[in-house]
Amino acid sequence: MDPSTSSAITLNINGEKHTLSVDHRTTLLDALRERLDLTGTKKGCDQGQCGACTVLLDGHRAVSCLQLAVAAEGREITTIEGVADGERLHPVQQAFLDFDGYQCGYCTPGQICSAVAMIEEHAAGWPSAVTRDVRSAPPPLTPDEIRERMSGNLCRCGAYVQIVEAVARAAAAGTEAGQARNGAVA
Ligand code: FES
Ligand code: FES
Repeated sequence: MDPSTSSAITLNINGEKHTLSVDHRTTLLDALRERLDLTGTKKGCDQGQCGACTVLLDGHRAVSCLQLAVAAEGREITTIEGVADGERLHPVQQAFLDFDGYQCGYCTPGQICSAVAMIEEHAAGWPSAVTRDVRSAPPPLTPDEIRERMSGNLCRCGAYVQIVEAVARAAAAGTEAGQARNGAVA
């Protein structure tokens, strides 16, 4: 290993540590797919435009084709392989199944990772790019708001109608669960 062009790094992925040596130019996407066999994360454009490679970094969505693997050291990386809770699907995964939120499925891992983080961003009060007044609470997750917030994830099959429905259902289920929890506490 030439230390001027490569380094040994440890990546924390889905709760497991992976140590590997990588060329400094290796993207996180290529490290996941080509070095660690985590092929659920897909390569579409490889230039940050399609969202197929979306993963979570410290809980926030990121396109892994624009992230250097060496810069991901020390971050909590979650890929589609780590979204479920053991055998129990994440509510967003279940909603994609229930509402047929895919056709070929190539964009689906990125859509799901993005939706998981997007729903949390919205719940935390983050505005979208079209929020009129960023000082007030963000607008509800209407289909238009979901389309705006998920606009970084393209679907070449055009399964957008079902994707939006699945995301809306998962977001509503999360809100209902939160209200039930708060009601139980109150
Ligand atoms: S492959 Fe990363 S955004 Fe398209
Ligand atoms: S389901 Fe085929 S690209 Fe989205």
